[in-house]
Amino acid sequence: MSASTVPPIIIKGIGSYAPQRILTNEELSHMVDTSDEWIRTRTGIRQRHIARPDETTSDMGVAAAREALANAGLQASDIDLIIVATITPDMPFPATACFVQAKLGLHNVPAFDMSAACSGFLYALDVASNMIRAGAYRHILVIGAEKLSSITNWEDRTTCVLFGDGAGAVILGKGEEPGTGILGGSLGADGEEYAILHLPAGGSAKPASIQTVEAGEHFIHMQGNSVFKIAVRAMEQSAKAVIERHGLTPDKIRWVIPHQANNRIIEAISQRLDVGMDRFWVNLDNYGNTSSASIPLALAEAWKAGKIQKGDHLLFVSFGAGLTWASTLIKWQ
Ligand code: ACO
Repeated sequence: MSASTVPPIIIKGIGSYAPQRILTNEELSHMVDTSDEWIRTRTGIRQRHIARPDETTSDMGVAAAREALANAGLQASDIDLIIVATITPDMPFPATACFVQAKLGLHNVPAFDMSAACSGFLYALDVASNMIRAGAYRHILVIGAEKLSSITNWEDRTTCVLFGDGAGAVILGKGEEPGTGILGGSLGADGEEYAILHLPAGGSAKPASIQTVEAGEHFIHMQGNSVFKIAVRAMEQSAKAVIERHGLTPDKIRWVIPHQANNRIIEAISQRLDVGMDRFWVNLDNYGNTSSASIPLALAEAWKAGKIQKGDHLLFVSFGAGLTWASTLIKWQ
């Protein structure tokens, strides 16, 4: 098939969900030795949403999925595959996607999780769009959902100020206009650098024990500075690769929707791509870093605000534990 006859894979519906409870920087300054000023100037974060203790990653994913279905004008029964990107599954197994499947009443519909940390949603988009392109599925529900508050050490000021909870979802399906929709993606990983961002215990390498719990090894461990430097380089290269591959230049991108980890990382990428910050969609001030949920949450916000128009080129770009990075290029249908 020539490029012009390949059926386009488009985003048919978008939804998002953020828990009601808001945790402000001011509140955090009473929990650990930090300040609103430090958090705002070093990260850009002002507040984050925190799930209720009884609210699970799959609950948040289902809320986002229901909104995406409504916005797509589809029924849950139109979905024939579910992929959930998350590093905070409801349980180590089964897959959180199976809980989503049951809650949506989609008996027998296949469901699996994607583990690529903050890049998980873009990894899932890449897999899902190629599965539809191959003719194996018609409508795939792709969710990025995280309850990072459940793996955050609330006594560690170097990490607890950064993260939040939430979910975003899209429904992918075939479109009609050739040359629109998901144009392509660029994925990458470097497992040798895993130790700068990981959760040491609770897996087969170090099963949970009283000692691992006492040592706080079931929380996020991160060397922020190292992550920062590699993130900027990897995101720049990944973004440029996908833009060039599709014969575009950065000035043709209407919206860059980056992973929302740190304003300074986003500003550095804006400079390196030579795309002004006025064309970056940034909402980390309200949500903090929600890992795999961050790009679909930001996409949903931009779309609901009516800022995405037919023909706009969108660039998603992310970086996360693994290490992993990814970009997706879209021409809005
Ligand atoms: N409040 C006050 N002071 C703090 C805090 C805090 N919350 N946290 C750290 N500090 C102190 C440090 O102790 C250090 O003090 P010292 O100089 O006396 O030693 C000082 O502030 C500077 O610390 P740095 O770590 O050098 O601060 P930096 O400017 O690098 O900012 C940050 C830290 C915000 C974590 C940054 O490095 C960052 O954003 N890194 C990237 C994180 C990221 O992108 N993660 C992405 C993936 S997440 C995932 O996949 C789940």
